[in-house]
Amino acid sequence: MGASSSGNLNSVTMVLTRDEDRKRVLWETHGEQDMILQAPLLVTFCADWWRTREWLRLRDAKDNFNNFLGFEVASYDAMILAQNVCLGFQNHGLGICYMGTTLFAMKEISEFLELPETCAPITTIVVGYPAEDPAKRDRLPLKAFVHDERYRLPDVDEIEETYKVREVKGWERYMSMPGLREMAAEHGITTLAQFYTSEIKYDPKFFEEVSKETFEFLKSKKFL
Ligand SMILES: Cc1cc2nc3c(=O)[nH]c(=O)nc-3n(C[C@H](O)[C@H](O)[C@H](O)COP(=O)(O)O)c2cc1C
Repeated sequence: MGASSSGNLNSVTMVLTRDEDRKRVLWETHGEQDMILQAPLLVTFCADWWRTREWLRLRDAKDNFNNFLGFEVASYDAMILAQNVCLGFQNHGLGICYMGTTLFAMKEISEFLELPETCAPITTIVVGYPAEDPAKRDRLPLKAFVHDERYRLPDVDEIEETYKVREVKGWERYMSMPGLREMAAEHGITTLAQFYTSEIKYDPKFFEEVSKETFEFLKSKKFL
């Protein structure tokens, strides 16, 4: 709860889902990711100005935050809090997994959790005691992220160097999953880069569609 918070307005809400029937509904909403059914707890982090705006109204203060900047500010608070909560759970021996699928179904999740105006789901985590101890996954080399004073456009050689290990390890990891290997073969996918923006992973058409839906959803929530 000590996460940094813009203006210390704490424009966040966490909705806990433990009820098995309700978890099953969210499992469907989140693309049937089975860890939702396996883990006992699901936490949905929301960018939430409703409580703050109600307080402002009761104190005859000017209304605010029902705008896109409000959405941004509260979303960052929600993500910062989420990561703190993850570290807290992990510190107690629990395991977590983020559900990015929250962003694919903001409207459905919002309706199901009965979120009010200027309150939107930003991310979700599943929480449980881990049944396995997987090897730590790598990240791209630190050098690729750090720029000294000014942005330095990486040249082709640097891009090649940055993705050299990832391209092999990432591809091997995905191809060790039999279902994915078959799908990749069906779609004629032969590299990790192709995989990422294929229909199997982050399809550009799907992203375009969801972007439009998100825009409509934010309008309906009075964030636009
Ligand atoms: C915002 C966000 C959304 C994510 N969504 C999913 C998800 O929907 N399903 C999943 O299995 N993992 C999800 N992940 C987990 C990432 O796939 C994972 O962090 C990454 O592959 C690196 O693995 P590691 O965290 O075990 O090191 C998400 C991570 C983040 C930060």
